[in-house]
Amino acid sequence: MSESLLRAAGVTKEYDTGGETPLHVLRGVDLEIRAGEIVAVMGESGTGKSTLLHILGALERPTAGTVTFKDRDLSTASDDELAAFRNRSIGFVFQFHHLLPEFTALENVAMPALIQHHGMEEAEPRARELLDLLGLSGRATHRPNALSGGEKQRVAVARALMNEPALVLMDEPTGNLDAQTAEPLHREIQRLSETMNQTFVLVTHNPGLASIADRVLKLEHGILHDVDLEDGMPLMPGSSNTDDRADPLQGSHP
Ligand SMILES: Nc1ncnc2c1ncn2[C@@H]1O[C@H](COP(=O)(O)OP(=O)(O)OP(=O)(O)O)[C@@H](O)[C@H]1O
Ligand SMILES: [Mg+2]
Repeated sequence: MSESLLRAAGVTKEYDTGGETPLHVLRGVDLEIRAGEIVAVMGESGTGKSTLLHILGALERPTAGTVTFKDRDLSTASDDELAAFRNRSIGFVFQFHHLLPEFTALENVAMPALIQHHGMEEAEPRARELLDLLGLSGRATHRPNALSGGEKQRVAVARALMNEPALVLMDEPTGNLDAQTAEPLHREIQRLSETMNQTFVLVTHNPGLASIADRVLKLEHGILHDVDLEDGMPLMPGSSNTDDRADPLQGSHP
């Protein structure tokens, strides 16, 4: 069994929305991710998947609970230490890609290395290799406003891989991609996991992407639980579910 890479214990997240009671998004999430695993997180819109991913990637702090990365408790780290940790160890693909509009695709991909004070000359070969890998070699000089939605998303994936981070967190990485474009990306994720023991946590509604995961988890009512893949995929928004067994948690939503 591979080593534990990231562990979340009793993670809660509340947002103060100005009302009498805060919004309880996460209500006690426990999760352990081992090196080399691909873990998919599913769940309906607004259940807190992005919130959870941001907490796992140390972009947000939990209200309570702990996140430990290779036995390092992230809650005791300063903001500066967390920024350095993210740059070194985490690759993040945001739900809305967040590319830097002033920079070309190539520069956006190279950015994590440039932040580490590596020069463009040093960073460029790997950035080009990643663009190639994602079928974007012809778009290296395009700025984000001259890229399609799916191309922007692929640039964001390349950027996440730039520093060879220990953990890649992807929030709907194939949300904007058609099946034909998404498929090579799915294969690449699988290849990186198998050949380089690269670890991924993927938030997705896409059954094709979830199907390459070693484990599928579902976030529901602030709690994360395992989905038994042999029972078939969980209900997707907008899909019809042939499995009509009652959801034991249904009706308990606040
Ligand atoms: N900064 C914030 N302040 C207050 N409420 C927030 C904040 N960020 C998120 N929320 C709320 O927390 C809940 C979870 O949001 P989140 O973005 O994590 O959902 P999600 O599962 O990623 O949804 P989707 O599938 O639509 O991306 C939502 O109800 C959202 O409105
Ligand atoms: Mg989201």
